[in-house]
Amino acid sequence: MPELIACLPGDGIGPEVLEQAVRVLEHLPVDVEVVRLPFGGAAIDATGEPLPAETLAACRASRAVLLGAVGGPRWDSGAVRPEQGLLGLRRALDVYANLRPATQGDVDLVIVRELVGGLYFGARGVRDDGTVFDTCEYHPDEVARIVRRGFELARGRRRSLVSVDKANVLDTSRMWRRVVDEIAPGYPDVALRHALVDSFAMELVNAPETIDVVVTENMFGDILSDVAAAVTGGLGLAASASLGDAGPGVFEPVHGSAPDLAGTGAANPAAMLRSLALLLEHGLHRGDLAGVLAESVDAALVSAPTPDLGGNATTKAFGDAVLASLTKEEAWTTALS
Ligand code: NAD
Ligand code: IPM
Ligand code: MN
Repeated sequence: MPELIACLPGDGIGPEVLEQAVRVLEHLPVDVEVVRLPFGGAAIDATGEPLPAETLAACRASRAVLLGAVGGPRWDSGAVRPEQGLLGLRRALDVYANLRPATQGDVDLVIVRELVGGLYFGARGVRDDGTVFDTCEYHPDEVARIVRRGFELARGRRRSLVSVDKANVLDTSRMWRRVVDEIAPGYPDVALRHALVDSFAMELVNAPETIDVVVTENMFGDILSDVAAAVTGGLGLAASASLGDAGPGVFEPVHGSAPDLAGTGAANPAAMLRSLALLLEHGLHRGDLAGVLAESVDAALVSAPTPDLGGNATTKAFGDAVLASLTKEEAWTTALS
């Protein structure tokens, strides 16, 4: 029986980069069935909802979800927004652990972002006087499960963990710090430190090579992961894996729908292809193929750079280069056997 891979193209450059990932996936020696489903703004246009029930059902039934990007100016003023579909999907699948690796040269770090709580999911509204509010809420159990993920990941890497918060101001951050300190004795082999998000943002820019694993709440992780991407070559390169305790993970680039690039053929599909590599590793447990694909993407960055990298390769030409490199790879035949 083939494994079902739910593919959600979404909006803007989402479908353009996802198409390259599907080409590569279908070329790989894995028994998968790709199902494309409406999501985001495209789904709002077709059905009125960003996450139609059929799309969510297919995602739940899948081995893994591969997602392009959602959003765009067309839907920014509507009552229903594409981004609500993305948040709804993450919450429905309870993929609370969002791993966002950033590597380049001697920089090799991973941001472990809490993905289904905090400010993006708290109570919100408008008071009679016109005041608008969003609230940041966390239960200690929600903090504990993501913090454990951070420690576990650090344990398998350079054994260094930074927990990022704003404990000098926020009660949620003070609770976060307390939970981290309660869990830390279970990981005596991991060097832990706490950092405040504002100065840590500076550290991430100034000394990224000193950072191994970062664990942080939803909004801080959202912002810091774009910073980490910028430090390591740009959003065109940054991939992510969103994992729960069971069930399908969601694999998507860190970048958005890039309305400024949509339709030009200039989008860099590397972030999407690296997200496919994360799917191979975490979703299909084929770390061998993930490694081969990651190498082929690295080779294409040199042989077919897209405009964001100073080259002039198109999205499709980059995909062609990855496929050509995969076919050449010696390791590839080994992986096949
Ligand atoms: P963005 O990430 O779409 O783009 C930021 C900048 O990076 C733009 O200049 C863009 O051209 C560039 N860029 C992004 N991806 C690129 C790629 N693959 N290759 C080359 N350049 C790339 O962020 P934005 O412009 O702030 O947001 C646009 C829309 O995307 C918004 O509607 C936002 O809500 C949405 N968004 C969606 C996701 C997602 O679906 N996961 C993530 C972030 C933003
Ligand atoms: C991301 C995006 C999303 C987020 C938006 C589009 C809801 O910025 O994946 O980083 O905030 O998580
Ligand atoms: Mn973001």
